[in-house]
Amino acid sequence: MDEQKLRSQGWFGRKGKDGFIYRAWMKKQGIPAHAFDGRPIIGICNTWSELTPCNSHFRELAEHVKRGVYEAGGYPVEFPVLSLGETLMKPTAMLFRNLASMDVEEAIRANPLDGVVLLCGCDKTTPSLVMGACSVDLPTIVVSGGPMLTGRHRGKRISTSDIWRFSEAQRAGHMDDMEMTLAEAGMCRSDGHCAVMGTASTMACMVEALGISLPGNAAIPAPDAARKIIAQQSGSEIVKMVKADRKLSDILTPAAFENAIMVNAAIGGSTNFVIHLLAIAGRIGVPLALEDLDRLSASIPLIANLQPSGSYFMEDLYYAGGLPAIINKLLPQLHKECIGANGRTVAENFGTADCYDPDIITSTDKPFSTMSGVIVLKGNLCEQGAVIKPSAASAQLMKHTGKAVVFEDIEDYNARIDDPALEVDETSLLVLKNVGPKGYPGMPEVGNMGLPAKLLAKGVTDMIRISDGRMSGTGFGTVVLHVAPEAAEGGTLAIVRSGDEITLDVRGRLLHLHVSDEEIAARKKALPPAQPIAARGYVRLYQSHVQGAHLGADLDFLRGGSGSEVTRDSH
Ligand code: FES
Ligand code: MG
Repeated sequence: MDEQKLRSQGWFGRKGKDGFIYRAWMKKQGIPAHAFDGRPIIGICNTWSELTPCNSHFRELAEHVKRGVYEAGGYPVEFPVLSLGETLMKPTAMLFRNLASMDVEEAIRANPLDGVVLLCGCDKTTPSLVMGACSVDLPTIVVSGGPMLTGRHRGKRISTSDIWRFSEAQRAGHMDDMEMTLAEAGMCRSDGHCAVMGTASTMACMVEALGISLPGNAAIPAPDAARKIIAQQSGSEIVKMVKADRKLSDILTPAAFENAIMVNAAIGGSTNFVIHLLAIAGRIGVPLALEDLDRLSASIPLIANLQPSGSYFMEDLYYAGGLPAIINKLLPQLHKECIGANGRTVAENFGTADCYDPDIITSTDKPFSTMSGVIVLKGNLCEQGAVIKPSAASAQLMKHTGKAVVFEDIEDYNARIDDPALEVDETSLLVLKNVGPKGYPGMPEVGNMGLPAKLLAKGVTDMIRISDGRMSGTGFGTVVLHVAPEAAEGGTLAIVRSGDEITLDVRGRLLHLHVSDEEIAARKKALPPAQPIAARGYVRLYQSHVQGAHLGADLDFLRGGSGSEVTRDSH
């Protein structure tokens, strides 16, 4: 083994009572003495849970990681952390992202680990694990669970993005309960996370573009044998990373973040990318602002034809060459010298990747769209910014002035949206308040709120929607999200009234409320006192400390890291 003494030897290499205790209880699991001889101890941080259906295959996936760890001369130990299931958790899994990150951080630091493999899948399980791991900064690699196989319904390929269409079809009276039940049965056909470029796939692409997974990790479908193989390879790689002492901070440089932003623009990634990347940058100590995401996206066209921005599914992306084929096409724009988990540069890792289907991955000179990535809006309605994903929006609404139809909160929206008497037409802008980080709390994915039933019946398919909430990565439409400051913090959003005029100008990066500064100030003065925060528990901690969406919605005291050192013993 290496000359250098590994961190785990601070436990297992000890003599006397402490070393006895550290080893003896591990040996009760059938672990032989040679596991403690100074070889790398690799933690496998597992988000397996039957309440996180997207990650339900992770116990098996972990076994393949272990093979790789053994093969390379390390010893694997698997441990569970809080797993966030996007589909079930109320009021929103996002409320618990920061809590899960605390679990991950403390579990890694407190234990005799030299390196960590993060098993990530469903939306929040990637950012929460990466955030927590960044605050410890050991050698760390991500293995994603992979997307599901594409769904099927009546001979058509379906996936999560269709849920929004089904729901509108049902509300417009075009789809009955029986049809919905049939579609439900065909939606999720296999292990894995959502099969489009939703948030889970966006996060898998983010870690690959950042360099903290092996190349090719993002797109391999969960049931594909290649998924098991990359898990094993990642198990071997983490042992090498420990020996090379290649930590997250060695990989997650400012240039790596810039690469990830450019790749996200090219793939039409989820708007949730913004909030999670800002939070990760905050943990690893890389300065990154909302405006950087806009600036770096601006030069990158959309070259992946994937739902919800395009037509295809993650499975198709894999057969077309996966993310490596996309990164290959972007090499002239990317920082090619960045080092990935395997110690190789971006140029080395992606320089020879081929594209097998130009319908799915095109080149930057023949893009599917030049409006890509995330555009950051500013204006008196969002002094600290708001975002819109132009590739998911309607061209005719990109510059529009109209009257606001305001909903004070989600209950108000649910109560009135289908009221035939609601004063609304297709030129209106739907405004939803109090769905921000602090206000909801947890910033749920309700920003792409459904259109009024009477307009759906008329055939309207898109309207401008504005809120301080988020949108599912599988969602689409001309949807302005993450308005900051949020309504619950007394942002201008809080004082918008139905009938006020609002201008959205996406190319001009403007979101303007046509109300005078004096009137805005007067209305703010007249606002009722803020809603009290939760009386106790994690939600109280969250509401007391959560930062705005423009900073990544992390808790203020979680920014940065505390390293991996623990100076005091337990017994
Ligand atoms: Fe888990 Fe979509 S619900 S990834
Ligand atoms: Mg989601």
